[in-house]
Amino acid sequence: MRCLVTGGAGFIGSNLTIELEKRGNEVMVVDSLLTGNKDNLKGFNGKFINADISKEEELKKIPDNLEAVFHEAAITDPRFKDDKEMLRANIEGFKNMIALAKKNKAKLVYASTANLYGNGPVPMKESQKKDIITVYGKSKLMMDNIAEKYSDNMHIVGLRYFNVFGPKEASKGRSASMIYHLAKQMKANKRPRIFKWGQQKRDHIYVKDAVRATLLALKAKSGIYNVGTGIGTSFNELIKALNDVLKTNYQPEYFDSPYDTQTYQVNTQADTTKSKEFLNFECKYSLKEGIKEYVEMIE
Ligand SMILES: NC(=O)c1ccc[n+]([C@@H]2O[C@H](COP(=O)([O-])OP(=O)(O)OC[C@H]3O[C@@H](n4cnc5c(N)ncnc54)[C@H](O)[C@@H]3O)[C@@H](O)[C@H]2O)c1
Repeated sequence: MRCLVTGGAGFIGSNLTIELEKRGNEVMVVDSLLTGNKDNLKGFNGKFINADISKEEELKKIPDNLEAVFHEAAITDPRFKDDKEMLRANIEGFKNMIALAKKNKAKLVYASTANLYGNGPVPMKESQKKDIITVYGKSKLMMDNIAEKYSDNMHIVGLRYFNVFGPKEASKGRSASMIYHLAKQMKANKRPRIFKWGQQKRDHIYVKDAVRATLLALKAKSGIYNVGTGIGTSFNELIKALNDVLKTNYQPEYFDSPYDTQTYQVNTQADTTKSKEFLNFECKYSLKEGIKEYVEMIE
């Protein structure tokens, strides 16, 4: 299969690119290197295109005859300072990728997010009322709404990733996963720092599972699916899991969250019913298995 990965120098995109190539596909990557890093693509043999996919004039750098487009590129930091630019770039980039997929008669799989459930009820169902607490979430909900309009006349699948962690996320800096940041602190013999009082929950999914879900989307019917484990792990439980894997006994250091309660997502947990049935997806890695495989790679 001849395919394009947008945002392929980023965290999920680079893991996906390497897996696609390993499976024998012809893979091209397009990335503006806004948050991505070419080092994430060590060992990749395909074509790398440095372009901003939100700008129509840069799209001519992308070759034709594509069979699939995996659209991972986005401004991904929910605390990005320019709201207008976040909306423009994420939505224009997406519209451009729809046009590209249509022109090529290619399948389109794109990244949405669990952030658009905000502080709605858990476990979070695809159909539940959305609670938009960030401009980032707003941009992704607008993408999902656009996708729904096309779902009858093209293959278009949106994936609402939950909290993905794993190798190659260091390039994201402060918006890398909390597992990355806490493990780094603990490996440097420091107490892990979490917000008071550690009861907040996250559905942490290992990147290899997220990549597998992304590939399964090629075979699923058009629609929007959660990509999570279905398990909400509290910050306190996460530190326990990290201590178990690292064979340490650090006690958390609690501090006040600097974030405004209106924009901070307290809990995430996927309802996995729809993705089990229609994406044929279930996670293979438990939280501890993912941490175990990953933690040795964290420097
Ligand atoms: N990591 C997670 O936990 C998570 C959760 C939910 C959704 N997502 C979504 O998954 C996708 C991948 O996220 P990630 O964690 O790998 O983030 P990332 O920041 O590592 O990857 C995004 C990549 O897109 C590139 N990019 C940004 N704007 C671009 C543009 N206009 N043109 C070309 N390239 C551009 C960046 O340089 C970067 O390489 C994103 O769409 C993100 O919103 C991620």
